[in-house]
Amino acid sequence: PQDKVAPGALAGKHIIVTSGPTHEPIDPVRYIANRSSGAQGTAIAAALRDLGAKISFVTGPASVAPPDGVDVIAVETAQQMRDAVEAALPADAAVMAAAVADWQVKNASGSKIKKDGSGTFPALDFTENPDILAWVSKLMNGRPELVVGFAAETDDVIAHATAKRLRKGCDWIVANDVSPETGIMGGAENTVTLITEDGAEDWPRMGKDEVARRLAQRMADALG
Ligand code: CTP
Ligand code: CA
Repeated sequence: PQDKVAPGALAGKHIIVTSGPTHEPIDPVRYIANRSSGAQGTAIAAALRDLGAKISFVTGPASVAPPDGVDVIAVETAQQMRDAVEAALPADAAVMAAAVADWQVKNASGSKIKKDGSGTFPALDFTENPDILAWVSKLMNGRPELVVGFAAETDDVIAHATAKRLRKGCDWIVANDVSPETGIMGGAENTVTLITEDGAEDWPRMGKDEVARRLAQRMADALG
């Protein structure tokens, strides 16, 4: 006979996780994107799933495969990601681990831009993308009980991330130092600081999977 599996600490909870980069088209063959493998967001979704949560995993074009056992909603642009998050609501919690492009190309071309012999590229006009984290955090109706953002920063990481938490209105920010010398971008490890209303808590350097498990456990504690 099979062992009884204890129901997870997040059983019955629905959590939205955004992950990966977004791609903003310039023309049918070119785009602008942030650097993101999707590894941390994928690990978080898997860790939350392991605690029994139902996961809506809204992912841009990531280089790592989405986890099993989650509801995968694949998107390309920031606007599509925003719409997918809206469609996935309501949720008990949201974790915005995606590296969302801050701007989209206003004058994206429907046909492929060809070299014209001038040696230059046509000027691009940009318009700001919707801020998905700030929008969810400030929802008047149906705001998830716990909203977690990320802040990949360089230089004064804690100060930037603390200000970002207040500006966005989210409950927690997971901050990390992505200066090239840390080797975190694209690596298997992460050194993060969890910023809450109580202040900043430095976590030791650990694998992205371990960061995910610790964060998932903290979320389970907070959601009771
Ligand atoms: N985020 C989002 N939608 C955006 C931009 C960012 O949901 N359009 C989320 C990210 O998923 C992350 C958090 O906001 O959880 C912080 O992203 P970041 O790029 O650090 O914040 P920005 O406000 O864009 O600030 P910056 O000018 O430093 O890029
Ligand atoms: Ca940004």
